[in-house]
Amino acid sequence: MAPCNTSFTILAVSFSLAFLTVIKSETMFARELSARDQFWLKPKKMTHLRFYLHDTVTGRHPTAVPVAQAATANASATLFGTVAVVDDPLTVSPDLNSALVGRAQAIYASSSQSELSLTMTMNLVFTEGAYNGSTLSVLGQTPLLKNPRELTIVGGTGVFRFARGYIQLRTYAFNKTTRNAIVKYDAYALHH
Ligand SMILES: *[C@@H]1O[C@H](CO)[C@@H](O)[C@H](O)[C@H]1NC(C)=O
Ligand SMILES: *[C@@H]1O[C@H](CO)[C@@H](O)[C@H](O)[C@H]1NC(C)=O
Ligand SMILES: *[C@@H]1O[C@H](CO)[C@@H](O)[C@H](O)[C@H]1NC(C)=O
Repeated sequence: MAPCNTSFTILAVSFSLAFLTVIKSETMFARELSARDQFWLKPKKMTHLRFYLHDTVTGRHPTAVPVAQAATANASATLFGTVAVVDDPLTVSPDLNSALVGRAQAIYASSSQSELSLTMTMNLVFTEGAYNGSTLSVLGQTPLLKNPRELTIVGGTGVFRFARGYIQLRTYAFNKTTRNAIVKYDAYALHH
């Protein structure tokens, strides 16, 4: 009787262990993975990208269009409350006809009552060479008269997965009549 009892106990224990294992995986909330073994992640790299953003707000083909504004927006010199949606080309040189490397697809909101300053939620969508299809997700506050001003890289896709970093923005040209601008971007991204 004793050996039978023992095997029954072993059986019962292994059943409950299997049951516990199932429960554990079904209720898993978070677990640590080996970045190197499971995602083939190498140590972080730093990439410096330099390009020029063409923010065209007037003319026949605007790439930054206001979509909403506060009822009092015109009364404010800082355009406080105005929201624009943006699809700006990014080129390798200040010349709009130079090689296109991607587009900045973004939402700008004029969010300061004391200066011209935009809250930006931006995706830099690259189309150039090895970066084609990769994106950087960017957030930040940009006082337009400050040079340089800075944006935060909060993440990325493709070659920029797990990206972090910052971007320095410098106004290269601003036409007071058309309000169109060319902005130089220097992005520093840490990524795998
Ligand atoms: C603000 O000014 C623009 C251009 O003068 C005009 O088209 C728009 O209707 C005005 N908006 C408001 C809310 O008054
Ligand atoms: C980028 O990739 C898309 C889709 O794979 C392709 O159609 C396009 O030609 C590529 N562009 C460049 C500049 O390589
Ligand atoms: C601003 O744009 C207007 C209209 O396109 C143009 O006539 C003018 O020369 C430009 N000004 C500067 C400083 O580039």
